[in-house]
Amino acid sequence: MRTIYIFDTTLRDGEQSPGVNLSAREKVEIASQLEKLGVNVIEAGFAASSPGDLEAVREVAKSVKNASVASLARSVRGDIDKAWEALKVAESPYLHVFLATSPIHREYKLNMTKEQVLERAEEAVRYGKKFFPIVEFSAEDAGRTEIDFLCEVVDRAIRAGAQIINLPDTVGYLTPEEYAEMFAEIRRRVPGIERVRLSAHCHDDLGMAVANSLAAIQAGVEQVEGTINGIGERAGNAAIEEIAMAIKTRESFYQAQTTLNLKEIDRTSRLVSKLTGMFVPANKAVVGANAFAHESGIHQDGMLKNKSTYEIITPESIGLETRLVLGKHSGRHAFREKLEQLGYPQSDDQLNFLFARFKELADRKKEITDDDLIALVEEKLTDS
Ligand code: KIV
Ligand code: ZN
Repeated sequence: MRTIYIFDTTLRDGEQSPGVNLSAREKVEIASQLEKLGVNVIEAGFAASSPGDLEAVREVAKSVKNASVASLARSVRGDIDKAWEALKVAESPYLHVFLATSPIHREYKLNMTKEQVLERAEEAVRYGKKFFPIVEFSAEDAGRTEIDFLCEVVDRAIRAGAQIINLPDTVGYLTPEEYAEMFAEIRRRVPGIERVRLSAHCHDDLGMAVANSLAAIQAGVEQVEGTINGIGERAGNAAIEEIAMAIKTRESFYQAQTTLNLKEIDRTSRLVSKLTGMFVPANKAVVGANAFAHESGIHQDGMLKNKSTYEIITPESIGLETRLVLGKHSGRHAFREKLEQLGYPQSDDQLNFLFARFKELADRKKEITDDDLIALVEEKLTDS
């Protein structure tokens, strides 16, 4: 069974979500929860992007003891210096240095030749290694980079001393098969690749970030990068909680595990949502309010008989409970159970009467709350 490292970039790529701005105090609070969750690397920010972010990265670096703390840096000495300034106090400082490699980025963004990209990547990794015990090199937009050139870039970064090679699908363009094939090619063609840790970093522009990350794991990648609740640039990053639960739920399929304390998932998701102001859609996998809620009578009946009928993940495993939501599709079985839970056991006759009243109410009101049910029963008690 392989262990997949979880690189959390909620505080860097996640913070790049439009409208999100975390203070140093908020970053420390999230980092501390990420430590409880058990992620292996916390990317605290991009130290060179602003004095405030440098300070925030430093504060996170001071507080975290059980994970490596990373800062992003462009492949320029100034950025690497700033990253070191922020991270030298960390228990386990980690440099994440990147350079775009795709033809589109080389021509329009960097205005650099292939040779210049190779030299810059090598120079940046070598410089980073002077300070940092761990250096990750990311080939930005690897997904749209010519495979021959990508092999050359990876080769140069490894020779310069990078221990982790990240190949991001920066714009969420690839299919799972293509992303897996890219890693397979790199593993086949780059000498010394077995000495480094390969990392996947996926964006969700076509809704495939989690599928792509899982495909990369099947292709032998040992680290995945993502964010809590999948927040991030544009459509966001791969959602860590979804990747972790997919690995856990299909452990024998992936032959892999993570070090995450899964019971902390719900708490982490809520904290990130609260501090970033990015609400989690109700139908979001794993952490959405409806992810473990069952409304229809058929489903509720199945759930009351055996939870595995309609749940492949136990809500308790992520720190939650199953919710049977009473609405117009609900059945008698769930209704009786709910009244018993609320302390109102009913005879069959009483239940028939109340169930009819409940159905009338459910036609008018989408979700029936506990208070609604209590009012129904109390009304019946006063009538009789
Ligand atoms: O998506 C991306 O390519 C990135 C890099 C900076 C690693 O976030
Ligand atoms: Zn990214």
